[in-house]
Amino acid sequence: MSVPEGFFARHTRLVRPPLVPEVALHLADDVSALWQAMEDDGGGAGDASPFWAAAWVGGQGLARHVLDHPDLVAGKTVLDLGCGSGLVGIAAALAGARRVLASDVDPYALAVVPLNAAASGATGVEPVGDVLDADLPEVEVVLAGDVFYDLRMADRVRPWLFTAWVRGAVVLVGDPGRSQLPEGLREVAGYDVPDSGVDAARRTTVWRLP
Ligand SMILES: C[S@@+](CC[C@H](N)C(=O)[O-])C[C@H]1O[C@@H](n2cnc3c(N)ncnc32)[C@H](O)[C@@H]1O
Repeated sequence: MSVPEGFFARHTRLVRPPLVPEVALHLADDVSALWQAMEDDGGGAGDASPFWAAAWVGGQGLARHVLDHPDLVAGKTVLDLGCGSGLVGIAAALAGARRVLASDVDPYALAVVPLNAAASGATGVEPVGDVLDADLPEVEVVLAGDVFYDLRMADRVRPWLFTAWVRGAVVLVGDPGRSQLPEGLREVAGYDVPDSGVDAARRTTVWRLP
């Protein structure tokens, strides 16, 4: 499936998420209208929800944390797991990461990440597909914004993040406190994500393994 030329210009608008105004993203106000556009004007909606069309609160908190603590990623190779719009990986690139792999299974996400990186003035962000079933890529930092949003994904992500950590990667997770979040994480920061006009203000936390 390929995303038609101009799809994002026609069906999204460039938005700076309230907690992370450094980053500009092609987002949608009306997800059901976007879903229809993916059927009519895109390559089909497929099985995936258009998660890439929102800046999730867990991702916003993690992106803010990385921008405020550039030493976490500066000069390093970083993986943004479940990148969606690319928000977290783009923040890492702006904070000085040497190379960012932005991983998602959704072809729309993989297509929008380079546009969002360019709109944000970020370089070195490379979209990559599913890494959960592949060998662990050679990365020093894994950033995971809002990846515990459903049970199936959480069950795949939990052991994968643990393996990355055992192999020496720094693992940071942004999450508003979902029930699927693993136990034993260390809380490193908390943020109130301002009301976006769609979602009310919400508290989110940055966690570190272990
Ligand atoms: C809730 S969204 C979070 C997006 C972004 N990190 C943020 O915080 O705004 C989760 C993303 O994980 C992606 N995803 C689902 N399964 C995946 C997999 N096996 N590998 C990588 N990404 C996956 C979804 O397509 C979706 O874009």
